[in-house]
Amino acid sequence: MTKKAVLAFSGGLDTSVVVKYLQEDHDMEVITVTVDVGQGDDYKKVAAKSKKLGAKKHYHIDATKEFVTDYVFPSIKANALYQKKYCLATALARPLIAQKFLQVAKKEKVDALAHGCSGKGNDQVRFDVTMRAGSNLPIIAPIRDLNLDRPTELKFAKKHGISIDSVAKKYSIDQNLWGRAIEGGDLENPYNEPKDDAFIWVKTKNLPKKPTYIEITFQKGVPVAVDGKTMGPVKLLEYVNKKAGAAGVGIIDHIEDRVVGIKSREVYETPGALCLIEAHQDLEKMVHTKHQNKFKSIIDDEWAHLVYSGLWEDPLRADLEGFINQSQKYVTGTVKLKLYQGSMRVVGRKSKYSLYSHDVATYGEDSTFDQKLAKGFVELWGMQSTEANKLQKKR
Ligand code: ARG
Repeated sequence: MTKKAVLAFSGGLDTSVVVKYLQEDHDMEVITVTVDVGQGDDYKKVAAKSKKLGAKKHYHIDATKEFVTDYVFPSIKANALYQKKYCLATALARPLIAQKFLQVAKKEKVDALAHGCSGKGNDQVRFDVTMRAGSNLPIIAPIRDLNLDRPTELKFAKKHGISIDSVAKKYSIDQNLWGRAIEGGDLENPYNEPKDDAFIWVKTKNLPKKPTYIEITFQKGVPVAVDGKTMGPVKLLEYVNKKAGAAGVGIIDHIEDRVVGIKSREVYETPGALCLIEAHQDLEKMVHTKHQNKFKSIIDDEWAHLVYSGLWEDPLRADLEGFINQSQKYVTGTVKLKLYQGSMRVVGRKSKYSLYSHDVATYGEDSTFDQKLAKGFVELWGMQSTEANKLQKKR
């Protein structure tokens, strides 16, 4: 009997090439699975492509809402930015895709799991580790196994009559509701400024002459309303992405350290993520003590690092989330952002749990803070440092 493989399929260059390799090199029947995490592809086309490539069956699984509530929202609570820049769009989607994919593998009783990741990136780690957490089936990754490069893939695709869209010929793209990653081509020279054609979410020309304001309301660390309108998770993200992108906000360009040790130049469009994380973090600062703020940033950093590194399944995540979720108890309130000509800044915040006290902070005559108390405090606070300097000068 012919063996069966299930393949995580996007319809892009890599996964299309993999269908053919599985059929030809491994003599396998292929079942393709596309998990919708808001990548906005034409799914009819994806299904048609799978069929044209000769896949035996195609699954389309809508996981957009789950993606936002169970993956994106926890990342907002953790202010998750890998290396202070990257909102983890791809990193968050991979474990979810792998889990959905495993469900199909079980149902279809396949003999192998397959993906189109290269051996250079992080996605192979995220896929392999999550798949391993739920299955012992062999994992076939032809791009990695055969050490394929993009030009070879493009030639192979042409030979097999696989159509590839024009953007994919220039860049390697991965996108979902939380962000769009653009790699390759011109961008491989880290000194090259990204060309306008790399961007589709963020406006780069003819930006509005007037500033755009956006007000984000959080409840226990989760965004629930924007501009006074309560919205469901998916709608809310789409709304912020669109509004911030139109104001030119959301482009990230940085040098990233991959799990496998490679340094890569990464360009992202993540308007919603940048606004929501900035606003969330600002609100936390208003409702948490300075000790909470300092400590949480360490936990946040660990969370982002763990998830980036493909270890979504590691028990440490739940441990960290125990702390993070507890810390969100009072993260309720509204933050106002001003977006103008590509820049973004918090210009206002309010919360019923605010620890900001006007009476203490004011420089006005109604201040309740007794400045005289500060004198002794400052003396003791600096005592050890002052003494150290004195003693060291003497010796
Ligand atoms: N560097 C990012 C990450 O590892 C984005 C990867 C995007 N993948 C792609 N095929 N363009 O999460």
